[in-house]
Amino acid sequence: MVITAESLRARCARDMSRTPRGFAGRSWLRRAFLEVPREAFVPDRVWWPSRADDGRYPLIDRNEKPRAWLKAVYLPGAALITQIDDGTVPPSGPADGAFTSSISSPGVVIELLRHLAPEPGERILEIGTGTGYTTALLAHRAGAGGVVTVEIDARLAARARGRLRAVGMSAQVITGDGEQGHADGRLYDRIVSTASVREIPLAWLQQLRPGGILVAPLDSPFGYDLLVRLVADGHGNASGCAVAPVEFMRVRGQRVPRPHADLGWPGGLDPAQWRDLRVEAGREGQHITRRPPARTAQAARAARDQAR
Ligand SMILES: C[S@@+](CC[C@H](N)C(=O)[O-])C[C@H]1O[C@@H](n2cnc3c(N)ncnc32)[C@H](O)[C@@H]1O
Repeated sequence: MVITAESLRARCARDMSRTPRGFAGRSWLRRAFLEVPREAFVPDRVWWPSRADDGRYPLIDRNEKPRAWLKAVYLPGAALITQIDDGTVPPSGPADGAFTSSISSPGVVIELLRHLAPEPGERILEIGTGTGYTTALLAHRAGAGGVVTVEIDARLAARARGRLRAVGMSAQVITGDGEQGHADGRLYDRIVSTASVREIPLAWLQQLRPGGILVAPLDSPFGYDLLVRLVADGHGNASGCAVAPVEFMRVRGQRVPRPHADLGWPGGLDPAQWRDLRVEAGREGQHITRRPPARTAQAARAARDQAR
């Protein structure tokens, strides 16, 4: 059977429609996924993110195995590794080292964008351009001129710029340290990071309009990141909650571990409580607290009866 990028994309979209973490009824997101050619953003040689028997990450070469490459591009849960050890490892064979850039999996990108919920015409800042694929989906939604994206690695930024141009998508690709955001005198409606942080940079909060939304993966004491969605007050503070467990590569400036207690995390949290976490960030630093459990209707009735 002939497999094409279009048929695999349609199948991937169908699979993601069936999961609660997929499109969840957002037709704009499904349309963006179906209309942006993900394969145009994937380098010809990528590493598969699980180790083979020899302990190294296998290389998938489009020229040697075009079907395997294309299938990998459209697996809902597969991120493909595009850079190891900040680009010091050439993509010439199986390799070992730290993942430093990837094309995020379709499932994770959809999850990020669903929580970000961008609107047409909005100004959006993305941190961590990578291949430019998430940027293209954002540009598809926001429209021409709405998206600014920052990538710290100049070579990756240049390639992403070329790929976006090649598929006719318009976004401003900046080479720089995304922890500083990108201040150009106008505030953003939304900021999304596709690299995780231990501490939410103040610059992001200061560059959001009042009511603007930040979606970013935040390191947690649970051994994985939590995607947080915060609403900005326009004065450098924001608050919100954790919306999903995820795993992302860390921003370069925050790779060194720090004690969670120094990053505003309370001790003694149970990983099962992640849904109850409230996150506040701003000028006074970052604070994570447990929200009181929501009252069930039955508990509310019981409390009312007792008060009578
Ligand atoms: C997981 S990848 C992004 C994947 C991207 N969403 C895609 O689908 O292609 C994370 C990216 O963040 C970049 N990065 C790391 N630290 C950064 C920083 N301080 N500022 C901007 N980009 C950064 C990395 O170079 C890497 O390309």
